[in-house]
Amino acid sequence: MKLIINSILLMIFFLTIASVNAQQSGEVSDAAKKEFSKSCVSCHGKDGKGNSGMTKMLKVDISALNLTDDATLNKSDDELIKIMHDGLNKMPPYKGKISDKIITELAAYIRALK
Ligand code: HEC
Repeated sequence: MKLIINSILLMIFFLTIASVNAQQSGEVSDAAKKEFSKSCVSCHGKDGKGNSGMTKMLKVDISALNLTDDATLNKSDDELIKIMHDGLNKMPPYKGKISDKIITELAAYIRALK
């Protein structure tokens, strides 16, 4: 009986943490901002509209680097997170380089750039 009560208490504890986290998602953290300036600005530009200087080097259209257009914003957070995780064409993968938490926050940051 004691074990069951303990398990229930533990479950409530984790559910509370989960809901606090859920409330925080969507907010733009300083850590995500810093990470974006450090790792992403070179290609995507400070304003997220794409660094035109990189289009030649990467051989991509500026629209591929623009993170503020519908092509990006119409994607779900999960899709954006997957691209940041695994990379896509010239977009480098950040799995293992940037924590999952920050990658999730970067999705919110990208939406806030618009
Ligand atoms: C070396 C240049 C480069 C760097 C650095 C880079 N990206 Fe990208 N990124 C790209 C390119 C190129 C694409 C377009 C890929 C495609 O669709 O072919 C892209 C696509 C994306 C997309 C998907 C956009 C869409 O509409 O599908 C997201 C999200 C993204 N990058 C986020 C980031 C974040 C966050 C960082 C920093 C952690 C970052 N990128 C760093 C080059 C880069």
